[in-house]
Amino acid sequence: MGRIAARRLVARVAGCKPGQVRLEVADDGAVDIVGHDLSLSISHTDDAAVAAVSPGPIGIDIEPAARDIADLKDYVLNADEQERLLRDHDLSIIIRSWVAKESVLKAMRSGLRTSPLDLTLRFADGGGYARHANGSAWAFSMEERRGFLVAVAVPDADAALR
Ligand SMILES: CC(C)(COP(=O)(O)OP(=O)(O)OC[C@H]1O[C@@H](n2cnc3c(N)ncnc32)[C@H](O)[C@@H]1OP(=O)(O)O)[C@@H](O)C(=O)NCCC(=O)NCCS
Repeated sequence: MGRIAARRLVARVAGCKPGQVRLEVADDGAVDIVGHDLSLSISHTDDAAVAAVSPGPIGIDIEPAARDIADLKDYVLNADEQERLLRDHDLSIIIRSWVAKESVLKAMRSGLRTSPLDLTLRFADGGGYARHANGSAWAFSMEERRGFLVAVAVPDADAALR
């Protein structure tokens, strides 16, 4: 489903047919588009799949919005976030943080080889910002659609201004 979504999206952007889009799995596990200078990200979960393309790094993640991952709290949220985010939000902040962090880790192309705890999130209207311990800065948008949460992350070009 994810690759079908990807082919349809790339075809629309590149002006060709989905069957003409060639995808290949890179050494890091991500799927690349052959012959087009675009980054691709794919995500799939029960009954739903999404894809995103960009001229620069991009990551996308989808999860059922009602998924209860309270038992993963210590894997998803670092100490600073547990104090700040769990104080200011209800428990749905854990799944929203998971989706945001997975989108960023996919934009970084490391996936879960990088600990989610090395990212620190700040939520804002319609998404938010993430900073990695190595200093890289990311912006994500997030929306809930048909019972699924979807986040899309890109480099935060304005990080220095924040
Ligand atoms: C990237 C990762 C977080 C995706 O997790 P997932 O539960 O499979 O979730 P999603 O459905 O959202 O994403 C699947 C897509 O992630 C993409 N992906 C895989 N590795 C990726 C990476 N290093 N960077 C960016 N995207 C990646 C692929 O396009 C995949 O699509 P496909 O199923 O058509 O091949 C996870 O696969 C990962 O951390 N991989 C790298 C480390 C690894 O291989 N660990 C073993 C499992 S933990």
